[in-house]
Amino acid sequence: MIYYFSGTGNSRWVAERLAEAAEDRLCDMAACLRGQRIPPAVSETETAGFVFPIHGWYAPERVRAFLSAWRMPHANYRYAVCTCGDDVGKGMSRLSKHFPLDAAWSVTMPNTYIPMFSLDSDALCRQKIAEARTRIAGIARSVQRHERVWDVHEGSVPWLKTYIANPLFVRFVIRSKGFHVEEGCTGCGVCVHSCPVGNIRLEDDRPVWNSHCIHCMACVHGCPQKAIQYGKTTQRKGRYRLKDYL
Ligand SMILES: Cc1cc2nc3c(=O)[nH]c(=O)nc-3n(C[C@H](O)[C@H](O)[C@H](O)COP(=O)(O)O)c2cc1C
Repeated sequence: MIYYFSGTGNSRWVAERLAEAAEDRLCDMAACLRGQRIPPAVSETETAGFVFPIHGWYAPERVRAFLSAWRMPHANYRYAVCTCGDDVGKGMSRLSKHFPLDAAWSVTMPNTYIPMFSLDSDALCRQKIAEARTRIAGIARSVQRHERVWDVHEGSVPWLKTYIANPLFVRFVIRSKGFHVEEGCTGCGVCVHSCPVGNIRLEDDRPVWNSHCIHCMACVHGCPQKAIQYGKTTQRKGRYRLKDYL
């Protein structure tokens, strides 16, 4: 079983490619969390994989909540794959302290965090995705052999990023305040359905953000009218759609 969490689709795509290559089944963590459904069980002979994005050099809180609630200690091989734009810091090793893993990988994908950074160029997006395809095939082979691998791109000053910058990022940056919609909004509701944590509702045909946003930017990138903005920073930035590169 491969459990995945995804905002803008990168991690879902990686999970789907892995499931295809390793002939495994998929389960959406967000759907389990939203519906308070118990995740499908894995047997003692099965492997359990977890695929998710890195947010601020650590696993998003929802992913950690899912893993803490995951009560299937008998899976005989547990691995994690995180997707990132650049680097993971100590995020994966910090996670493995609470949730032991037999193997871990990072897969570099196009960056989606436009409040702070610019989108990758088209050429870089294509290059990252092409390299990811090869990497995923290698990960699937290792998973099928139950190899104990630790291949995570931590980047520079990883400890500082995960243990100092992450708590500051979560405390001061991740919040719903700042999202707003411009005139072009048609009230189509794509944002409501694209939010993995069910944080958006429509009121008078306009999106309203509740207070448990995780800043995944799915609403901003997914809006067909490009009408959703975060503060003033996203107005000048492009939008990322994985399907444009596949
Ligand atoms: C809130 C947020 C924080 C992020 N932090 C990092 C980071 O610390 N390091 C990094 O390399 N990429 C970072 N990224 C980029 C994502 O990890 C990357 O684009 C990922 O593939 C997105 O996956 P998704 O499409 O499944 O949501 C961040 C993205 C978001 C939305």
